[in-house]
Amino acid sequence: MSSNRKLMVMPGDGIGPEVMNETLRLLDWLAKYKNINFDTIERDVGGKSYDLHGTPLTDEALSDALECDAVLFGAVGGPKYDDLDFELKPERGLLTLRKEMDLFANLRPAIVFPPLVESSTLKPEVVEGLDIMILRELTGGVYFAEPRGIDIMPDGSKKGYDTNLYTTPEIERIGRVAFDLAKKRNNKVTSVEKANVMLSGVLWREVITELYKKEGNKIELEHMFADNCAMQLVRAPKQFDVIVCDNLFGDMLSDCAAMLTGSLGMLPSASLGAPNKDGIRKAMYEPVHGSAPDITGKGVANPLAQVLSFTMMLRYSFDYNQEADLIENAVSEALSSGARTPDLGGGSKNVSTTEMMDLVINSMNNYR
Ligand code: NAD
Ligand code: IPM
Ligand code: MN
Repeated sequence: MSSNRKLMVMPGDGIGPEVMNETLRLLDWLAKYKNINFDTIERDVGGKSYDLHGTPLTDEALSDALECDAVLFGAVGGPKYDDLDFELKPERGLLTLRKEMDLFANLRPAIVFPPLVESSTLKPEVVEGLDIMILRELTGGVYFAEPRGIDIMPDGSKKGYDTNLYTTPEIERIGRVAFDLAKKRNNKVTSVEKANVMLSGVLWREVITELYKKEGNKIELEHMFADNCAMQLVRAPKQFDVIVCDNLFGDMLSDCAAMLTGSLGMLPSASLGAPNKDGIRKAMYEPVHGSAPDITGKGVANPLAQVLSFTMMLRYSFDYNQEADLIENAVSEALSSGARTPDLGGGSKNVSTTEMMDLVINSMNNYR
């Protein structure tokens, strides 16, 4: 059935297609029981695109992505591509999508599902009830700024360098998203940088402080150095509500936060652009994890980060909050039954990727 909701699916490499195939079962379920339909197109990205088209992202795939209401992304990368030229590496496909779609705000929620309290490597009382949001700036900083390069010096040795650069408007727009998120959550923003050693960090702190004076009413703002933040995340993560940080710190802190929830296989994300004049944002939904080459093809990848990225899509791009609630409750019930993919350890039932999804869908069937 045709719809006015255009969804692009990009499974990518490694476990990407494995977790994506399972997640797409949700589309059939929504069509069958809720009469919610998407026009779906699938495009290659990453290593798969390189193998088939000689580039990690074709111009056609990029322009199709720009035309869609949302992109559901799997994962890219793998050892097979280690020796490729930098610009041809699978990861460039993902980075180009983020940049060209101007997806500057990356929301990475770290939520501990009650049945997984024992799955975290941290003590239960440290993580129980945790619900924090890491807001990562996604289109600037050291990931994209120039100059960058590897140059040969007169003595024949080389120098490799990247630039960490942020402008006032770039910091303001991510800061504004942080304040808006906090106002809908627990009214606290922790702004993270290293203003003690980096000038880009000095500017970051200055701009966030100024913005706070203008737009931060009713919320609490604190500043924290990134190294301390990494430590505080494992010491007492519940002190945080929204953490806002640059591209590189956000990459690292979100993998760190993943282990609070039990596994990197649990962490979803939404990458959002600025709203246009009709209030519509470009958006891509991507699990925080990668292609997991060590478990690819074994059928044991945890599909839940991809599933939860799908529910973020339902909420942020399509306003299907009830359906997102229904799926997230089903995830919680599946985990309550004791089902665990190997990354989650423990539990009373070891399950495969498909079996985990069978349990999620069985639970959804009770509430349709
Ligand atoms: P990774 O996230 O792929 O894996 C790290 C560890 O977590 C591995 O032990 C893996 O088995 C485990 N893991 C990750 N997701 C899991 C899941 N859903 N279920 C169970 N276990 C899971 O990170 P890496 O090994 O550092 O990188 C592998 C490749 O993935 C690299 O090429 C990297 O660039 C790429 N990568 C891609 C993305 C992305 O596409 N968004 C994100 C991170 C890394
Ligand atoms: C992530 C990944 C990516 C990043 C890579 C694959 C480009 O690690 O989404 O966290 O560093 O942003
Ligand atoms: Mn990462």
